[in-house]
Amino acid sequence: MKAYVDQSGCISCALCVDTCPAIFHFNSEAKAEAVDEKIPSSIMDLAERARDGCPVQVISIH
Ligand code: F3S
Repeated sequence: MKAYVDQSGCISCALCVDTCPAIFHFNSEAKAEAVDEKIPSSIMDLAERARDGCPVQVISIH
C-alpha cells in the first residue's frame, strides 16, 4: 500500500504532513506529496488518519 496525493486539489493545510511526516511532505510549491514507498504497517494508522483528515480529500491509499 502506498499513499498518493492529488496535488491539484491540495490547499496546503499541512494536516497530513503534521500527522504522518514519514510519508507526507511539502514539495517546492507547498503542495503535499507522498513518498513513493510502501507504507510500513507500523505507521499505517497515521497515514490513514492523514487521509481521513484531509479537508479536501485528495489523499488516497491503495
Ligand atoms: Fe494538502 Fe490535504 Fe495534506 S490539503 S497538505 S493533502 S491534508
